[in-house]
Amino acid sequence: MSVENNVLICPVCASPLKQSEKTYYCANNHSFDKAKQGYVNLLLSNQKKTQQPGDNKEMVKSRIDFLKKDYYSPIVTALNEAIQQKLNELQRPNPNIVDLGCGVGYYLSHLRQALLSSFPDAYYWGTDISKEAIHCANQHDKAISWIVSSNKNLPFATESIDIALSVFSPLYHDEVKRILSPNGLLFAVTPAKNHLMELREYLFDELKEIDEDKLLLKTDGFFEFSESVPIQATMTLESKEEIENLLKMTPFYWRSSAFKKDMLLSLDKLKVSIDVMLWVFKP
Ligand SMILES: C[S@@+](CC[C@H](N)C(=O)[O-])C[C@H]1O[C@@H](n2cnc3c(N)ncnc32)[C@H](O)[C@@H]1O
Ligand SMILES: [Zn+2]
Repeated sequence: MSVENNVLICPVCASPLKQSEKTYYCANNHSFDKAKQGYVNLLLSNQKKTQQPGDNKEMVKSRIDFLKKDYYSPIVTALNEAIQQKLNELQRPNPNIVDLGCGVGYYLSHLRQALLSSFPDAYYWGTDISKEAIHCANQHDKAISWIVSSNKNLPFATESIDIALSVFSPLYHDEVKRILSPNGLLFAVTPAKNHLMELREYLFDELKEIDEDKLLLKTDGFFEFSESVPIQATMTLESKEEIENLLKMTPFYWRSSAFKKDMLLSLDKLKVSIDVMLWVFKP
């Protein structure tokens, strides 16, 4: 994959990044080694709060094992349909598409496959602060440029991106707004009221209500609301292992007591609601 379309910028000085066989470098001699697997780490040490920020190895493994069962396919379908439709309207034959906080790359990979025939020249970038997650994403799909970086300091040129995606990941609106082209769009997926309700009922005595409109309020003034698409489905987890995988990829794993977790993990089956909102915003 080349960076000759001048999309990537240096995380230190913001000048364009060029690519040699083993590094990415800028005119000011900042250079970033490519991992031998192909992805690049553009996260500066002063952007890390911990040695290994983002999802750790165990969470990444649970996420991969859970996602490969395709229980979240209703989210994939809704995202792919909405993006395909907007791209048709935009009439950009070679759009730049980024997934911010892409995790193991599940949604971006599915999107790439869905757009392959209608947008063969689209360009895909997946970013995440977790090196572990990017490592796995890269192993799974070599046709995407995977980058370790923070959503707070995105290594993309101003107004260079046509489609930005964020699925359950932390969003920094000013950065997203900076990188989006004037006709670009942000697609964000966030939990709605009943998301994973049954799992939460097992784990907590008092359920904290999910504020469905949080993103709408936070983006007010930064983005123009375009549309929202509710996505609702039910999944039946068929084993302890599947329940544990889902638990370990949510923040509930850290917030709930050992006693409650043991109770949940004594189940062999669990019906769980998927209730999320797909938001579309214009810069
Ligand atoms: C709930 S997971 C969602 C991952 C993926 N979008 C998915 O749905 O499978 C949140 C992701 O955000 C990443 N993350 C957390 N803080 C971040 C930041 N400041 N910049 C970029 N990624 C971040 C985590 O490493 C994790 O992969
Ligand atoms: Zn530089």
